[in-house]
Amino acid sequence: MRRKRIGAILIERGLITEAQLNEALGAQAASGGLLGQILVRRGEVAEEDLINALSIQFDLSLLYDLFDQAVAVSDPAARDGIRLRIQRLSLLLKSIAAISAERDFDFLLEILCREAATVLGAERSTIFLLDPQKKELWSRIALGLEKKAEIRFAAGRGIAGHVTKTGQVVNVTDAYADPRFNREVDEKTGYKTKNLLAAPLGTKEGKVLGSFQVINKRAGAFTGEDEELLQFLASQAASAIENVQYFDDLRRAQDSLARENATLREQVGRRFTFANIVGISAKLQEALRLVNEICDSPVNVLITGESGTGKELIARTVHYNSSRREAAFVALNCAALPETLLESELFGIEKGVATGVERRAGKMELANGGTLFMDEIGDMSPSMQAKMLRALQEREVVRVGGAKAIPVDIRVVAATNRDLKADIAAAKFREDLYYRLNVVNIHIPPLRDRREDIPLLVEYFLGQAREKLGKNVRRFSSEALDLLKGFEWPGNVRELENEVLRAVALSGGAQVIGKDVLSEKLLEGTTAKFRKYKQLGAMPAAVQGIEMEMISEYLEKTGGNKERAAKLLGISREGLRKKMKKYGMAGA
Ligand SMILES: Nc1ncnc2c1ncn2[C@@H]1O[C@H](COP(=O)(O)OP(=O)(O)OP(=O)(O)O)[C@@H](O)[C@H]1O
Ligand SMILES: [Mg+2]
Repeated sequence: MRRKRIGAILIERGLITEAQLNEALGAQAASGGLLGQILVRRGEVAEEDLINALSIQFDLSLLYDLFDQAVAVSDPAARDGIRLRIQRLSLLLKSIAAISAERDFDFLLEILCREAATVLGAERSTIFLLDPQKKELWSRIALGLEKKAEIRFAAGRGIAGHVTKTGQVVNVTDAYADPRFNREVDEKTGYKTKNLLAAPLGTKEGKVLGSFQVINKRAGAFTGEDEELLQFLASQAASAIENVQYFDDLRRAQDSLARENATLREQVGRRFTFANIVGISAKLQEALRLVNEICDSPVNVLITGESGTGKELIARTVHYNSSRREAAFVALNCAALPETLLESELFGIEKGVATGVERRAGKMELANGGTLFMDEIGDMSPSMQAKMLRALQEREVVRVGGAKAIPVDIRVVAATNRDLKADIAAAKFREDLYYRLNVVNIHIPPLRDRREDIPLLVEYFLGQAREKLGKNVRRFSSEALDLLKGFEWPGNVRELENEVLRAVALSGGAQVIGKDVLSEKLLEGTTAKFRKYKQLGAMPAAVQGIEMEMISEYLEKTGGNKERAAKLLGISREGLRKKMKKYGMAGA
């Protein structure tokens, strides 16, 4: 049976040009693969268009031949016979056109079987497919209305095995009298095969994919005409099956690519994008708004905040959201190195400056085009500060022991947990360098000043710990969460992160983490907090202390809105006003 080449159909439909086809054929010759798949991968044909083209590929020549015959035949009885065949065939082709668009394998097989049984007037139809790896034939056979079972047997067995091996049509009038017949299938299905017609699922390349069979002709036995019809149907079915497998492969390839991309994005995203900075507090959001505003501008940035508040995380976020993201993010901790080492680390060094020294580029050179993150900038010595300032002003570096100036284009994001203004006043930090670095200041408030973020951060770190430790914990008990929220967190987010990881590690098999696995300091922390009030002696004084603290906290949270603060505190507005007045609080 003739089949039009897929390339020709695509050109005919104006979907690709000759040149595109030739290029794709070249690629196919070079690396193998299916032509359509190559065209889709190269983005030259949409998958949908390819499917349509593939469905046209089904051969109509048999139909045309029959028409020609019908016209030539003068005997009315023979003409009727041919007309009937044309009718059946066109019905068949219609269903095949539907099938070719069908890319669900099981469903496709089901349609094929149903159509074959109808067209050939048989009670049942089955498709056995060859599993070349296991050398078995298999089929999913309907047992009842819903139930399906997979039947498998050695590839050589049964009439299906014979047909698959020989590629010949087999027409059996009495199945149980035929020695090749495999009764196992009947035993499984509880169905009795009387007569049987089987045709090979042959592809145009001459490969046999399996056997297509119809069982129990409703009237009499299967005829020679039925043989021809089933053979035709089987060859079309083979094409459809090939197409489905082909699209399965294509889809699998695309899926794995999409998955790969997603993981890559996730890996990068998990660390550097905004989505991974957790926090809803107004204070953090304010900092993030600023990050968003300045990340893509060329200005230097100074990030301030206590230890563990997320300065490095913000620095990376700035870089990976800037136009410099394709170039390097180079981090340097200014506090970790003695001055001479810091200098060569920053500016690079020439060979032979000291014995055994190899020539090496400095971090400023490495960060060229990208971002240099200078952590703990406040710990830099005065002479290094001077050298750094010069390099930033001149936009060039001279390696230690070198003479040549190397131009560099870098953006500096510096971070410190020190109060640089105080350091300037104490003549410990150069004011000119400060202004060069601090074009924009992003301040990250300590965790204890944004306790609203704690539950979210706990949830986030819990997810990470779960993955890291492979534990099945779901959450912290509300008691434990209260302790986490109440703690002062001198080590900020990093300390919280460690606390969560530690708790998950100690959680045993529990799904809910109780407060007993939290570290001592958290349990102590709350007693210490209460001790503060208890020290006030009498209960009214202690209550006043707590009430004043809560009122201030909620007023701050609501931006001084008494109405909302009162609501959050669970008292009336008037009640709030009275308390504030009684305690002599500002704004009463
Ligand atoms: N808002 C946040 N959302 C999610 N994770 C955070 C957040 N803030 C900080 N972290 C995490 O907390 C840890 C500490 O953050 P980072 O190292 O950026 O802090 P730092 O301010 O540079 O600390 P140090 O001053 O000690 O160097 C990191 O694991 C970081 O990913
Ligand atoms: Mg840091």
